[in-house]
Amino acid sequence: MCGIFAYLNYLTPKTRREIIETLIKGLQRLEYRGYDSAGIGVDTSDSTGMNLIKKRGKVKALEDEIASMESILDFDKVHNTHCGISHTRWATHGVPNEVNSHPHRSDESNEFIVVHNGIITNYKDIKKFLENKGNKFESETDTEIIAKLIKHIYSQHPTYSFRELVEQVIQQLEGAFSLCFKSVHFPGECVATRRGSPLLVGIKSKSRLATDHIPVLYSKEVEGKHVIPDHRPVGFEMPCLPRVESTAEFHTSNENEEVEYFFASDASAIIEHTNRVIFLEDDDVAAVKDGVLSLHRLKRLLEDSHAREITTLKMEIQQIMKGNYSSFMQKEIFEQPESVVNTMRGRVNFESGTVVLGGITDYIPEIRRCRRLLLIGCGTSYHSAIATRQLLEELTELPVMVDLASDFLDRNTPIFRDDVCFFISQSGETADTLLALRYCKARGALILGVTNTVGSSICRESHCGVHINAGPEIGVASTKAYTSQFISLVMFALMMCEDRISVQPRRAEIIQGLKHLADQIKEVLANDDKVLELAKAIYQNKSMLVMGRGWNYATCLEGALKIKELTYMHSEGLLAGELKHGPLALVDKTMPLIMIATRDPVYVKCINALQQVTAREGRPIIVCEKGDLETQKYASQFVEVPHTVDCLQGILTVIPMQLLSYHIAVLRGCNVDCPRNLAKSVTVE
Ligand code: F6R
Repeated sequence: MCGIFAYLNYLTPKTRREIIETLIKGLQRLEYRGYDSAGIGVDTSDSTGMNLIKKRGKVKALEDEIASMESILDFDKVHNTHCGISHTRWATHGVPNEVNSHPHRSDESNEFIVVHNGIITNYKDIKKFLENKGNKFESETDTEIIAKLIKHIYSQHPTYSFRELVEQVIQQLEGAFSLCFKSVHFPGECVATRRGSPLLVGIKSKSRLATDHIPVLYSKEVEGKHVIPDHRPVGFEMPCLPRVESTAEFHTSNENEEVEYFFASDASAIIEHTNRVIFLEDDDVAAVKDGVLSLHRLKRLLEDSHAREITTLKMEIQQIMKGNYSSFMQKEIFEQPESVVNTMRGRVNFESGTVVLGGITDYIPEIRRCRRLLLIGCGTSYHSAIATRQLLEELTELPVMVDLASDFLDRNTPIFRDDVCFFISQSGETADTLLALRYCKARGALILGVTNTVGSSICRESHCGVHINAGPEIGVASTKAYTSQFISLVMFALMMCEDRISVQPRRAEIIQGLKHLADQIKEVLANDDKVLELAKAIYQNKSMLVMGRGWNYATCLEGALKIKELTYMHSEGLLAGELKHGPLALVDKTMPLIMIATRDPVYVKCINALQQVTAREGRPIIVCEKGDLETQKYASQFVEVPHTVDCLQGILTVIPMQLLSYHIAVLRGCNVDCPRNLAKSVTVE
């Protein structure tokens, strides 16, 4: 989705060049969230107005545009206190162009500007209302209504504070959003808020922070009722909240001391400045005025804590740098020997054979008594559920349902209080997955989150869960998160059966498999040159099939997804058992077909499928076990992976597919980290 970044320096002299560089750097870190256009909004150098600079294309295009505007932007001018907001976009309403890029503005003199991530579902009603008031819209976006709405409210209530104006605005909005506002009427102030889209605040101050928590102030309720109306007819007049007096809530140790604030869609944009952050909750309104941060809410949530914690992030800046790799995706593929170890660190004891997932230990008895396990996710995260379903069924002896979040919701799937629902998500913010989570939670099921993003919405809304600890994943195509999700679910299965005598030999075999995984992944990665040669042989084809069954079926789905999203080639993951029921018609000597065939219980059936393929002049490329000469006889070319226990084999067989998609993408001239039309974190349905 889109990326928001805002920077406010208070009593911290910064040149305009430094301020703009900070904004651009923040956008570059967030570019993986969307990259069809970018923009910034800063004060004019005489601080009487606002410069909005927007450019279609990647952040680099914006950077070049800014560099060419030196005379207008007055780079050496110093601001002691200043707020700048910026945005990188992934289009949802309106084509990618400069007018549709953010920040959006209230009027030609840029009195209020706003950056937005998400979708406003009732924007047409609000637009009609504002048009009736004489507003002219310049873009096709849903966001522009927000900038015009705040100005409209300001014209009716000129004495309201900036924060109060934003509170009025968000009462009118339906849908998902995170927003950052800036205004010429409130210089040096920034107001940010969220509902359904992530946003966090970073705090950098020289002295020790005076507090670890920021209390949340609640706006008063009107006669015991929330004032947010359920439905507003077109042409409504805005209902108004009573005003609440705000007190200063966050100070550095000394008042009037230098402090800098950063607002961002995720921590990767902030970590190089500070590791002290606050994750905002839905409907929090965070306002900085006179260097003081305060947090407000319009309505009190049940069980809501009355403060927001200032979290210290453990992320290191090196984790989000590319290093010597040509892309983040390549770096992340090659990080897997370490990321899988990090997923298991402190959890699997290879000597004693114990597995402890601290985030769910207390819930294990309840989970053992459940009716069924439901594993829900989207895309790659869903594939990790497919990959581990069989093992979960085997070791838990429970029925296991696996669902795509969007389809799960479309079907209004029946959910019961004694269900245990897993929500698997790298980002922890995927809208479909989050909505499915809320659906199940409302029906009383136990909610277990499996995410890579500490503090994400899925983390916070789950009853318990597992952090997969793969480290930041920046490349849009998921790689190391997949293998870590896979291992996390395997660890869960092992934990569930630790008391069952009959499965101890199986447990021991799997734990030994986990122990050697990192070295075996290194062995697979050593085949990179061979995979490159393979890629050269097939990169000009239009289509590709990836076939397998049993433990390797998930590799076929995941491999085919990687190929299509990165290379724009059509690609299909096929269950080998289904070959003769239709897909065999696609097979001929020109169609590249990759077969995953390892020595597991369905091996013989895979060989049957291979024979059907070769009988139709198909020339399969086979991913097989090291030294498996018999299987290699069927292959036009092959890639070897080491043997491991059947249920972990998919971790090794997926890596050649990750490498292959990476190389084909490079050969076809595609942008590996930012595939067209895609975004890393999909926070809209
Ligand atoms: C594919 C990919 C996507 C995501 C999907 C879910 O490479 O990355 O299919 O897996 O959008 O995202 P998360 O895991 O963040 O919920």
